[in-house]
Amino acid sequence: MASRHFTFSFYVLTFALLLQTLSAASPLFQVCSRSENFTANSPYESNLKKLLRNLNYQTPSLGFGLGSVGQHPYQTYGLALCRGDVAAKDCKTCVSEASNEIHKRCPYNKGAIIWYDNCLLKYLNRDFFGQIDNQNKFALYNIRVVSNPTTFNQKTRELLSLLAKKASVTPKLYAAGELELGESKKLYGLTQCTRNLSSIDCSTCLDGIIDELPRCCDGKGGRVVGGSCNFRYEIYPFVSA
Ligand SMILES: *[C@@H]1O[C@H](CO)[C@@H](O)[C@H](O)[C@H]1NC(C)=O
Ligand SMILES: *[C@@H]1O[C@H](CO)[C@@H](O)[C@H](O)[C@H]1NC(C)=O
Repeated sequence: MASRHFTFSFYVLTFALLLQTLSAASPLFQVCSRSENFTANSPYESNLKKLLRNLNYQTPSLGFGLGSVGQHPYQTYGLALCRGDVAAKDCKTCVSEASNEIHKRCPYNKGAIIWYDNCLLKYLNRDFFGQIDNQNKFALYNIRVVSNPTTFNQKTRELLSLLAKKASVTPKLYAAGELELGESKKLYGLTQCTRNLSSIDCSTCLDGIIDELPRCCDGKGGRVVGGSCNFRYEIYPFVSA
């Protein structure tokens, strides 16, 4: 599936256009934090390795893992989250792949985040648990344009707003659903927050990215993916039952 891919930031309204062909097994995107780096064989490195081992062990059974290793100034905090419909086996594969790949792409950065279709992995040298991440965010859209964008955009907002409400009140902070588009077509969507957000923050996070819709995915399938929440919608089913 070919998708266009761009990043944006809330603070500076610049759009960087990245073109890329995606396959399910390759990362969608990653961000390496540039503010602080560690050196090889440092205490931070060994704490990070231990954190990643813990997350690989913890995440598959619950679909979510969170933890911290070490003491200040070498303490590292991390979490991993699998998409709500992903089976434990695929979750395990994804988190393991994410750990290997982030190490290659951000080898000495104290903070990093990597996203796949099936999971995300994030770590940082400060406590970010329970906070909405408004900084790390990107959008992807399907290059296929629909025939009736006005109705389509309304239906998209309707479905995602409904799924945002639903996700924020379920324990997994995840919801998937569909909506009739007419002409026997359907719209399929999902919303999800990292499970360490409160219900209110999950709702705030999702409403925030839903407001990006006109900028990101006007008249097309798409997703906005952040460090704390994401949505995706398509005119074909993409979620496992
Ligand atoms: C950390 O490393 C990156 C390259 O990965 C570099 O761009 C950045 O300036 C470094 N930051 C510091 C604070 O040294
Ligand atoms: C997030 O994780 C931290 C650390 O485990 C915990 O203290 C906090 O209660 C969690 N918050 C939520 C909303 O799950």
